[in-house]
Amino acid sequence: MSVERQRLEVLRERLRYHAHRYYSLDDPEVSDAAYDSLWVELKSLEDRYPEWVTPDSPTQRVGTQPLATFNSVIHRVAMLSLDNLFSEQDLVDFDRRVRERLQLPEGIEVGYVCEPKLDGLAISLRYERGCLVLAATRGDGQQGEDVTHNLRTLPTVPLRLQGTAPDFLEVRGEVLMPKSVFLALNEQAQERGEKVFANPRNAAAGSVRQLDPKIAAGRGLEFYAYAVAECSSALPASHTLTLQRLRGFGFKIAEPWGTGEGLAFCKQSYQDLAQNRSRLPFDIDGMVVKVDLLSAQQILGFVARAPRWAVAWKFPAEQVVTHLLGVDWQVGRTGALTPVARLEPVNVGGVVVSNATLHNMDEINRLDVQVGDAVVLYRAGDVIPKIDRVLLEQRTGIFKRIEMPSVCPVCGSEIIRPEGEAISRCSGGLYCPAQRLEALCHFVSRRAMDIDGLGEQWLKQLIDHDQVHQPADLYRLTKEQLLPLDRMGEKLADNLLLSIARSRETTLPRFLYALGIRTVGEATALNLAQHFRTMEALLQASREELLRVIDVGPVTADFLLAFIHQQHHREIMNDLLACGVHWPEVQVVAGWQGGSFVLTGTLSSMTRDAAREHLLKLGAKVSGSVSRKTQAVIAGSEAGSKLAEAERLGVPVWSEADFLRLLREQGVDL
Ligand code: IVH
Repeated sequence: MSVERQRLEVLRERLRYHAHRYYSLDDPEVSDAAYDSLWVELKSLEDRYPEWVTPDSPTQRVGTQPLATFNSVIHRVAMLSLDNLFSEQDLVDFDRRVRERLQLPEGIEVGYVCEPKLDGLAISLRYERGCLVLAATRGDGQQGEDVTHNLRTLPTVPLRLQGTAPDFLEVRGEVLMPKSVFLALNEQAQERGEKVFANPRNAAAGSVRQLDPKIAAGRGLEFYAYAVAECSSALPASHTLTLQRLRGFGFKIAEPWGTGEGLAFCKQSYQDLAQNRSRLPFDIDGMVVKVDLLSAQQILGFVARAPRWAVAWKFPAEQVVTHLLGVDWQVGRTGALTPVARLEPVNVGGVVVSNATLHNMDEINRLDVQVGDAVVLYRAGDVIPKIDRVLLEQRTGIFKRIEMPSVCPVCGSEIIRPEGEAISRCSGGLYCPAQRLEALCHFVSRRAMDIDGLGEQWLKQLIDHDQVHQPADLYRLTKEQLLPLDRMGEKLADNLLLSIARSRETTLPRFLYALGIRTVGEATALNLAQHFRTMEALLQASREELLRVIDVGPVTADFLLAFIHQQHHREIMNDLLACGVHWPEVQVVAGWQGGSFVLTGTLSSMTRDAAREHLLKLGAKVSGSVSRKTQAVIAGSEAGSKLAEAERLGVPVWSEADFLRLLREQGVDL
């Protein structure tokens, strides 16, 4: 072995060791800088000798291409669920059944392991000769989805097992998003006006079910191991030893866990865990009790979909009583009015809660809640505060019924509730400052007019200072108007003005999307632009004509008609054009079907990843396989079976030059 090759192995070994100390044991030995310099050294060696790169190298966590679809995986050993216990009596019954089946004499206690019941997503990891070869979701227990590309980006998933590894090992565990990461992620999403996740479990699940591994890689997910499903060498004699063994292989085990005897141990562990729950870095929804000895587990076996040797003792959702002080009505981008309960601040599971959504009038009626009521509050999925019920027996004095406001609380416009809908809306459109803010946030967003740096904090101030009433006002802003804003400086103001000016040059699809017409997303905007080619043609379109556009159904057609026929919206559009917003003529793509593209072979001008990004930005879909519905196959050099398939199905084949022409015509900077 050459000196460099040896060095490479040493670097990988050290990096694995330090990553394990840092991510799994929370006990780093070296500084981040020292770690980084080892990493950089390894990377440069691998760049020099690409033939030495192996999938289990620490440099290879991110870097796989996004998938086109998920493959399904048949579990070699079914992924079971656990029966639930809800009370101490349930636990006593469980213990009795275990003792009977094991025929334990009076006075001999069962050895149990108690662990946190992690509230995440169950995952199975397969290792062959010590290397990670597969990560799969639970699915229906028999068949799940291959999510290896995402799981391998998690620092807590060893790409190679430490120590002496068995030939074959299948590990079960849970993927979680730590609470702190979840809160930060939602805060960012809110600032950007994006959808927030309801709870860390949904956020973790949403991240694992992404085709592009870069998304999961950036989400701070962690994997905790809690069982071995299959192993080519003998299994340890107890669950306690299994957990220790897993830790030795480099996995993280969720703390606190412990081994003890009988009911008393389980009850004490449960109380301790319940007390510490809010201090744990991740969400748990109970405690898992497992019979420790493997031989005992084997005697007990399984019923239907759960083992007889393990149960989940669930925590009751924490409920507290507080009072409803009033109801605020919030107005969203589409004018939807949401009642928000203002509550006497109260601590629920370690977090002070002072408001909770009431969703809509139907929910208020269902709860029969009035201002002044004592209400029972809990945190749904442990995060989102919700009112469970009203303590009607405590309603004594004069209480106030909650009425839907007759006019918008923000702008005074009429409130409309379309028949059959649960949601009432402010009819003020962009006259309403609340809707204006949301609409402007959308207008400036990256995929719309892409005004870099003009975030919600500035837009809010500009609206409050009465500087911006409608989108075109942005193009009339002067430095004098910007400078008085809180935290604004000379340089920032210059940069903002530059970004605003630059955004004047746009494309018709972007412009249409930026208008924020309901249900008109990027793909619809692109299809509209391809169909009508000019704004004038679109403004004159009949309902029939609109329905002929790919992907436009009756709902979208009606929203479009309502939008283009409102004088006020026409003025907004004309004003934007008068302010210099413009776009190049739309070049019609022959036979545009709004369908998907398939990339194959090697492109000389860009990576396939970049090509895919460009297509997605245009609102096109990108697929991994050719079907009759494929719009076109874009074939680079050395294209193989996909090209043949396209020819067989009669799907158009584009050369790289055709593709570049499309991009240029759509205003993509190359
Ligand atoms: S052991 C054969 N241990 O709970 C037993 N499961 O409700 C396999 N879960 O699908 C499960 N924490 O996703 C086990 N410490 C823990 C767990 C745990 C959470 C999940 C797991 C399972 C579900 C069953």
